[in-house]
Amino acid sequence: MQSKQEPNRTLLIKITIMIMKTIHQMIFKSANNMSHIPQECVDLIVTSPPYPMIKMWDDSFTAQDHQIKKALNDGDGLLSFELMNQILDKVWDEVVRILKPGGFACINIGDAVRTINANFMLYPNQSRVLTHMLNKGLIALPAIIWRKQLNAPNKFMGSGTLPAGAYVTLEHEYILIFRKHRKREFQQEADKQNRRESAIFWEERNNWFSDIWMDLKGAGQKMSDKKVRQRSGAFPFEIPYRLINMFSVKGDTVVDPFLGTGTTMLAAMAAGRNSIGYEVEADLHNTILSGVNSIVNVANERIRNRIKTHFVFVEQRMKHKGKFKHQNRCYGFPVITLQEKDLLLNQLLSMEKVNKNRADIIYADEPQQNFCEDWGSYYSEKHEPVRPGLKKHVPEKQPPKLVQLGLLD
Ligand SMILES: C[S@@+](CC[C@H](N)C(=O)[O-])C[C@H]1O[C@@H](n2cnc3c(N)ncnc32)[C@H](O)[C@@H]1O
Repeated sequence: MQSKQEPNRTLLIKITIMIMKTIHQMIFKSANNMSHIPQECVDLIVTSPPYPMIKMWDDSFTAQDHQIKKALNDGDGLLSFELMNQILDKVWDEVVRILKPGGFACINIGDAVRTINANFMLYPNQSRVLTHMLNKGLIALPAIIWRKQLNAPNKFMGSGTLPAGAYVTLEHEYILIFRKHRKREFQQEADKQNRRESAIFWEERNNWFSDIWMDLKGAGQKMSDKKVRQRSGAFPFEIPYRLINMFSVKGDTVVDPFLGTGTTMLAAMAAGRNSIGYEVEADLHNTILSGVNSIVNVANERIRNRIKTHFVFVEQRMKHKGKFKHQNRCYGFPVITLQEKDLLLNQLLSMEKVNKNRADIIYADEPQQNFCEDWGSYYSEKHEPVRPGLKKHVPEKQPPKLVQLGLLD
């Protein structure tokens, strides 16, 4: 029998289950040995390595293999390219080891152009990484081209307007997408329900699953020091945020072996996934923490933006195509597909720094009340009011643009 002092365990367990919480850990060491992570227990990798043969990463690579300095000094571009990629190979091998069967790896990588020994040429990092992953047994899926909006693109590479001596400007990078083995299965009812709640909007799907992303700038974000982010080769928050929502479900674990300023970790926090990040530069700790300190507001802003953008989409579609058939069960707003019925974008409630390298996030389980409106007149069939006494939806006067939204551009 339970004594008076003992807590009621059943109640405690219920309370624990109801709270949605994610855990985020930073590890300041090389990802060429991720022994903190047992094999096949990670759902998703989202990362951007230092790019071989881009000058800003020469020091990082030469610190990890002294032969690279010699190869560069000798003017041997192809050997330098190969040795730098061999450093990355060790990390890719760890990625393959820790990924669960059915898990995805999304790698943002750009090719490099460089003049060595008066010889200007392309160093094809994308194809080198792709080939390595195929050799390791990962399945390659269609990749995304990230067409960067450069602030001052240098269109005059080589002989300018004179024919036969000019070079095409490199204005894109790749997001390579791999899967380990077969498709992931969701067999238990609880897993299926979690997957339904992790759905993205139909109109987001149409943008995000396009093979070219044109709406994201390369650098410059509000969430932490702009200069530090530019120096560290940070990608925009929107890249990992989309990828995490596209290739994992809530509660999954995302790993970034090249954490940098922590963008992937922040995106995982915003999307309700756990994360682990490796980084060799311990100096980046403060930059990562400053992002973590502001993540609750930044993430909630992005979430509000997604819902407001959906409202605009609904209003425009209603004008052109008429009433909707499906209704989201959590918020009551119209959706295009039945798959979006349980979609719930959990608001972040708080962040707790557990120790200097770990932060936990607590989320709301209920939909944001201010987005629960009565959209009755938008349905072709009788709809079920989600909550009694809801305010009738009134369209916004100045709707935001209906384009792929960059969070912080
Ligand atoms: C392109 S940056 C990543 C930027 C990151 N996506 C962001 O948004 O800030 C690559 C990072 O990998 C780190 N790095 C290089 N070699 C590494 C290794 N072997 N293990 C872990 N991190 C490494 C570099 O210090 C650098 O911060």
